[in-house]
Amino acid sequence: MYKSLLRPIFFLVNPETIHHWVMGLLKIFGSIPGLRSALKWFFTVKDNRLEKELFGIRFPNPVGIAAGFDKNAEVYEELSSLGFGFVEIGTVTPKAQPGNPKPRLFRLTKDHALINRMGFNNRGLEQAVVQLKKRKSNVIIGGNIGKNTLTPNAIAYQDYEENFAGLFDFVDYFVVNVSCPNISDLKELQDQDALMEILNRLQLINNSKPKRKPILLKISPDLNNKQLDEVIDIVRLTKIDGVVATNTSIKRNLNNYNKNEIEAIGNGGLSGLPVRERSTEIIRYLATKSGKAFPIIGVGGIFTAIDAIEKLEAGADLVQVYTGFIYEGPCIAKKINKAILKQMKSS
Ligand SMILES: Cc1cc2nc3c(=O)[nH]c(=O)nc-3n(C[C@H](O)[C@H](O)[C@H](O)COP(=O)(O)O)c2cc1C
Repeated sequence: MYKSLLRPIFFLVNPETIHHWVMGLLKIFGSIPGLRSALKWFFTVKDNRLEKELFGIRFPNPVGIAAGFDKNAEVYEELSSLGFGFVEIGTVTPKAQPGNPKPRLFRLTKDHALINRMGFNNRGLEQAVVQLKKRKSNVIIGGNIGKNTLTPNAIAYQDYEENFAGLFDFVDYFVVNVSCPNISDLKELQDQDALMEILNRLQLINNSKPKRKPILLKISPDLNNKQLDEVIDIVRLTKIDGVVATNTSIKRNLNNYNKNEIEAIGNGGLSGLPVRERSTEIIRYLATKSGKAFPIIGVGGIFTAIDAIEKLEAGADLVQVYTGFIYEGPCIAKKINKAILKQMKSS
């Protein structure tokens, strides 16, 4: 019903506008007594064979919603009612910021893709905490953290520290985002020295707590193998807990758009089908080269159960969706989880 009825209507509207409508709808559903439980009942596949224990957290199922959808931690309960096993909020920055000028989100339907240059638009750390304090259920929440656009790279670690300390009591795991292509110079923080400094400083705070929280690093699909080897070293040296692979790409592997159409859109990160293969390759490379030394959350171009299973078989422990959720609709987690169970039965 989503693809034949709702999606054609949604896709007539500007993508960012529809995102806000959907957020509004989710909030309305969440506020009607009984409706959230009804949604949960309908969308959630409950089976203890789907559960996974990873870095000290028990995930009810391996399908999560990726960062960027619930930037301000407003609808994590509702997303959990749609059957997602975990919700990654953010990217959160210490101060609120408007992001890049609009338009900044584009659908490329012929290639099942999106291009975005949102630029970490969010209401800031303080507001995220206000929202997270409202958590009623045991939904697993990841806190994806970044730096404010105006913060120079030389002191970017301060933004990460502030976010980490501020969100510590309210999220279950952290994701350090240095791989968003829409913040100028952010990708320079992917250099080994800069990254080691940020992660070591976060670990210092982490280790001073009575119980530490898992820290993962989110990487770009545009890294080459040498850079991926560095990622493996960084995980080992800083003793962080894992990697989220991958973010959006600055490449334009599009089959159904010509050069002029692509240039007219301008800068931004490409997501969806065109990043699926590279993201899976990166997962496989990291898992194989490291000897499966750390957990990986696989994300990039997952639309169907086959795509998700491909990532799990390549070495991912959990998966996340964003663009697939927009294209496939609210049943995506249910469909993937059902297929994983079916595959278990047949093997
Ligand atoms: C509109 C949009 C906004 C995003 N915002 C963020 C973000 O704030 N932080 C982040 O780490 N990733 C962000 N992402 C990247 C996604 O979390 C995901 O890594 C990427 O889109 C690849 O997955 P997909 O192909 O399933 O979309 C965003 C993606 C989209 C499409």
